[in-house]
Amino acid sequence: ISRKGSNLVREIHEKQSMNKSRQRFWELAGSNLGNILGVEKTADQIDADTAEVGDQGEIDFKQDAKFAQHLKKGEGVSDFAKSKTLAQQRQYLPIFSIREELLRVIRENQVIVVVGETGSGKTTQLTQYLHEVGYTNNGIVGCTQPRRVAAMSVAKRVSEEMETELGDKVGYAIRFEDVTGSNTVIKYMTDGVLLRETLKDSDLEKYRIIVMDEAHERSLSTDVLFGILKKVVARRRDFKLIVTSATLNAQKFSDFFGSVPIFHIPGRTFPVQTLYSKTPCEDYVEGAVKQAMAIHITSAPGDILIFMTGQDEIEATCYALQERMEQLASKKEAPKLLILPIYSQLPADLQAKIFENAEDGARKCIVATNIAETSLTVDGIFYVIDTGYGKIKVYNPRMGMDALQVFPVSRAAADQRAGRAGRTGPGTCYRLYTESAYLNEMLPSPVPEIQRTNLGNVVLLLKSLKIDNLLDFDFMDPPPQENILNSMYQLWVLGALNNVGDLTDIGWKMVEFPLDPPLAKMLLMGEQLGCIDEVLTIVSMLSVPSVFFRPKDRVEESDAGREKFFVQESDHLTLLNVYKQWTSNNYRGDWCNDHFLHVKGLRKAREVRSQLLDILKTLKIPLTSCGLDWDVVRMAICSAYFHNSARLKGVGEYVNCRKGMPCHLHPSSALYGLGYTPDYVVYHDLILTAKEYMQCATAVEPQWLAELGPMFFSVKDSDTSMIEHKKKQKQEKTAMEEEMESLRKVEEDKERER
Ligand code: CDP
Ligand code: MG
Repeated sequence: ISRKGSNLVREIHEKQSMNKSRQRFWELAGSNLGNILGVEKTADQIDADTAEVGDQGEIDFKQDAKFAQHLKKGEGVSDFAKSKTLAQQRQYLPIFSIREELLRVIRENQVIVVVGETGSGKTTQLTQYLHEVGYTNNGIVGCTQPRRVAAMSVAKRVSEEMETELGDKVGYAIRFEDVTGSNTVIKYMTDGVLLRETLKDSDLEKYRIIVMDEAHERSLSTDVLFGILKKVVARRRDFKLIVTSATLNAQKFSDFFGSVPIFHIPGRTFPVQTLYSKTPCEDYVEGAVKQAMAIHITSAPGDILIFMTGQDEIEATCYALQERMEQLASKKEAPKLLILPIYSQLPADLQAKIFENAEDGARKCIVATNIAETSLTVDGIFYVIDTGYGKIKVYNPRMGMDALQVFPVSRAAADQRAGRAGRTGPGTCYRLYTESAYLNEMLPSPVPEIQRTNLGNVVLLLKSLKIDNLLDFDFMDPPPQENILNSMYQLWVLGALNNVGDLTDIGWKMVEFPLDPPLAKMLLMGEQLGCIDEVLTIVSMLSVPSVFFRPKDRVEESDAGREKFFVQESDHLTLLNVYKQWTSNNYRGDWCNDHFLHVKGLRKAREVRSQLLDILKTLKIPLTSCGLDWDVVRMAICSAYFHNSARLKGVGEYVNCRKGMPCHLHPSSALYGLGYTPDYVVYHDLILTAKEYMQCATAVEPQWLAELGPMFFSVKDSDTSMIEHKKKQKQEKTAMEEEMESLRKVEEDKERER
C-alpha cells in the first residue's frame, strides 16, 4: 500500500490494526474462518486478480419487453423513475403481475409464506394490496421489519405512493418514535416494537393482518414473534399472518406453521457476472476503493454499491474515494462521482439521499452496511463490490456480553449481495475474496441471532408473558440451553429474577421499559437512591448516538470544546452535565453548534427522556433529584454495571475485575482527559477496535462493588480472594440451576400424576 497522503495512510493504518484484532476474534470464537482474510497479498494486485471469472449469475430473460428496450437505450432507472409516475412505477413491479392470484391465496389461507427476489415489491406493495381489497375495514395491517431504517424509509415511500401524509394513513413505529395516528391503517414497525405490543395485548386485537417481513433475517425479535404469533393464529380465526422471505428458509417457515402454502413471486433478474480475487485481500477498504475507481474510470455507466461492515469503514471508504476523485480532478477532467454512505446511525435526511437521482449523469457510488443486502433496494446498481464481511452481534463468553464483531458473511448473503447488481440490467459483482474461501470457508447460511446473542431481554419478556419454562417455548430453532441459563443468571445477578427463576418486583418493573436490563435497573435504582431525575437523563443520553461532534478538519477545537463539559469522575456524569447545560440554555440549537454538540442527538435524547418519564408516571414512580450531590448517581450506575467493573493496573490501563481481560480508558474519556485514574471503574460497554476500549466509564468505590454486587465481590485483601470469588460464583450459579432443575422435576412429577 502506497503511503502517501497523511490522513489516508492514518486511516488505513487504523484499518489494518483492526484487521489484526479481527483475527483475534476468530481465534476467540474458535472459528477457522479467520484464514479468509489472510495477509499474503498486496492491495495493488486486486485489479489484476479480479479478472478471474467465475460466472454464477442466474439467468432469466423474461423481463418485459418495454423495460428491456428502455434499458437498451442506456437510460438508468433513475431516468426511468423520473419519467414515470409513482402509480406507473407500481405496475412495473413483478408482484403486480400476480396480484390477483396472491390475494386469492391469502383469502383462502390463514397463514402463508411469500417468497420473492429483493425488489419485487413485497414490502411496499403487499400492504397496499391488502388495504385496497378491504382488509383494513376492520383492523389494521401491520408489517414488521428487523431494521429501523427500513421501517422508516419504506413507510415514507408507501405514504408517497398512497398520496397521504406520513403518520396519517400510513405510519411507522420504532423504539422511542411512534409516527402513527388514529387514521393509520398501514403500520410499519420494527419487530421489537410488535414484540413489546404483545405484552400489552397478547392477542394483538387491533391487527387484522401481520406481515412478518424479511423473516429470513432471523432477528431475535422475529424468532420470538414466530412462537407468539403461532399462538395468536390458533386463538384468533379472523387473524391472518403473512411471512415473507428473500429466498432462503421458506420451507422451514411453512413447516413451522403446519405446512402452510408457499407463494412464489416470479423474478425479473438479469445475469450477474461474479469475479473473485485470486488471493486473499489484505485490506479490503483500500481494495474496494481501488476497484470502485477502476470501474468509474473504465466501465460503462451504472451505479456502484460497496458493502462494508460498519460506520467507521464506510466513512474511511468515502473519504478515500473523495480524495482520489480530487486528485483526479486536478489532473484532467474526471467524470462526476456522487459518493453516498448509508448505515443505520446516519441521520434520516442523509439516508434518503441514496434514493435521489444523481444530477446530470453523475455516477452514484453507495457505500453501505449489510442494510443494502435485502432491506433497502436502490435501482440502477450495475456494479457490486463485496468485501465478504459484515458485522454481527455475538455473545462473547470471555467478556460475558454481546459484542458487534466482524465476521465473514454466509454464502447466502454473498449471493444476495451479488444479486443487487442484476436488478436493472446485466451486472458485475467483484468479490474481494477467493473462490475457494466462498466455497470452502463461508457458512452456507447465517446463524440465527437467537443462537448467538444474550437473551436477557427476551427472557425478561417471556417471563412476563407467563411462559415459565423457557426451555419449552416453541422456538423455530431453540437457543442453546446454556445461553438461556446464562441470561437467567445475569438477570438474577441484577435482582430481576429470584432464586427459583421467577420475576421479582423489580423485574416486573424492568419489563415496562424498552431498555436493556442493566439500564432499566439503573433507572429503578435511581428511584431507591432518590436521584431518578439525574439517572433518567443519563439513560436517555446513552440511548442515542454520541452527541459529541468531531469534524475531521476541526479535531483539536472540538476536543477542547468537549473537555469543557468533563466531570472528573465520570463519563456518565459528563453526559448529564452536557444535557443540564443544554437545558439551561433553553435547548438552543445555535448553542449546540457553538459547543460542538449534535443538536439532533440531544433533541432525540430529550424525546427519549420524555417517553421514559411517561412510563415512570404510569408506574407511579415520582421524579426525585439529588441536586448536586452526584455521588449517589454514581452509586446507581454502579448498581447496574458492577458486572462491567475494572481495576487499575497501569497508566490508563485496567483489567476487568471478574474476567481479568484488559480494558483501556478511551482517549475521549473524561477520566483520560483529566488524567484522573481511579482504582475502580464501571463501564457501559466495551468497544473493540485496535484495543479493548471502555466506552463511558465512571469511577466507583470498591465498597460499593461489594455492597451492590455481593455475588461477585467482597472487601478482602488476600491473594486467594479472587479464586474464592470464582468458586463462590460458580457454586451460586450451580445452586440456582439445581434449584430450577428440581423445580422442573417437581413440575414433571405433577404432570405425570395428572
Ligand atoms: O420488499 P421487496 O424487496 O420485494 O421490494 P420493495 O422494497 O417493496 O421495493 C419495490 C420497489 O420500490 C423497488 O424498485 C424500490 O427501488 C422501490 N423503493 C423506492 O424507490 N424507495 C423506497 N424507499 C423503497 C422502495
Ligand atoms: Mg422488502
